[in-house]
Amino acid sequence: MNISVAIMAAGLGTRMKSTLPKVMHSISGFEMLYHIIKEAKLISDDVHVIIFHQAELIQEKMNAYFDDINFIIQDHANFPGTGGAIMDVKPKYENLLVLNGDMPMLQAKDMQNFMYLNADVVMSAFTCKEPFGYGRVIMDSNHTVQKIVEEKDATDEEKKVTSVNAGVYLFKTQFLKDNLPKLTNNNAQKEYYITDLVTLAKEVKAVNVDEETFMGVNSKYHLSIAETLMQNRIKKEFMEKGVLMRLPQTIYIEADVRIEGESTLESGVSLLRGAHIINSVIKTNTVVEKSIIKNSTIGPMARIRPDSNIENSHIGNFVEVKKSTLFGVKAGHLSYLGDASIDEGTNIGCGTITCNYDGKGKYKTIIGKNVFVGSDTQLVAPVTISDDVIIASGTTVTRDVPKGALAINRAPLKILDNFFYKFFGKNND
Ligand code: UD1
Ligand code: CA
Repeated sequence: MNISVAIMAAGLGTRMKSTLPKVMHSISGFEMLYHIIKEAKLISDDVHVIIFHQAELIQEKMNAYFDDINFIIQDHANFPGTGGAIMDVKPKYENLLVLNGDMPMLQAKDMQNFMYLNADVVMSAFTCKEPFGYGRVIMDSNHTVQKIVEEKDATDEEKKVTSVNAGVYLFKTQFLKDNLPKLTNNNAQKEYYITDLVTLAKEVKAVNVDEETFMGVNSKYHLSIAETLMQNRIKKEFMEKGVLMRLPQTIYIEADVRIEGESTLESGVSLLRGAHIINSVIKTNTVVEKSIIKNSTIGPMARIRPDSNIENSHIGNFVEVKKSTLFGVKAGHLSYLGDASIDEGTNIGCGTITCNYDGKGKYKTIIGKNVFVGSDTQLVAPVTISDDVIIASGTTVTRDVPKGALAINRAPLKILDNFFYKFFGKNND
């Protein structure tokens, strides 16, 4: 696509009241800046990201996701503001689409709407009930845009205007070359405003856009609104593909999660970091993180931690699984299964624990087919349990168990008659 894109991400983000740069705050598991870069790259092979505050941190994080972003460090000392941000961009193409970095809801399809318009400046606007904080779009009686006035520069009369600048612009590259040097910082914030380019252009076109899609996130309150919007978008998409959700407003799904087939998510479920659910039922208040769940039921109140692969299995309440492969397994209650591989037909009794950590290293537990692990078993790793084994309740397994065996290490039970009364004395008689 023959368009360049510049994403402005060099602002301090003072209104976030945070040590983290504004655009590094996450929505649905990913930084706001990640969301917008990802979409921009769908329409352009020439994406520039303007940074300044904590530039190294931003570069490091974004380079982990993308490999061909042109980072530009804004000359913030001399040219602060959104106008200053784009002064050093050298677009490869004749048109430059400029985006605010704090618009996480914007998608490639929304960006595409600008590309078919031809003017020195194409700007975007929407009408909103609470215009506070946005630049107001001042028009003459013919609805021609005269200027954009920032909140801090606006007169009381201008503040009443409800048509606001959405913060996405399409510029002719040549127009920018000619006009960026003309910007001044003659305003309340002593900044160079990109919005003043509207006044310098002979021809300005305005695109009417959707308020929710183009919302700018300036505060943690805005962040919470954008999070809800993003979650609604993610969940709607899955529900339309056939995923059933009980009380979807209580469910949290990160942006890289995949859900396939006829799956159900009950209330309070969290699916994190690329969890992949296939034909499964995830019950109330279960957390699944970076794991594959296939043809299984999980929870309620189970925790599946990263790198687990669970297939044809049933995981019940208060079971924690980490970095384990379970195939055809039942673990109904109260267990910790970490660094384990457990095979078909095996039943994990209540209170079973893989002791995978000795304070220094992590070790594997391997359990074969059709093993009956009695309640309250400790499996001290590294340990291998072969097929068709019975482990008696309360056993601490410290050695490998061969096929077909029983493992039992119970201390004999003693019963001392009337011990209670000897110990506490006999009251009331
Ligand atoms: C801006 C617009 C406003 C519009 C609103 C839409 C200006 C002057 N105002 O206001 O008209 O209604 O967006 O959401 O543009 N940035 C830099 N360098 C800087 C300053 C900011 O790169 O020196 C970046 C920020 O990181 C941010 C974006 O530009 O991603 C917008 O800055 P922000 O401070 O949020 O502008 P608003 O006050 O919201
Ligand atoms: Ca903003």
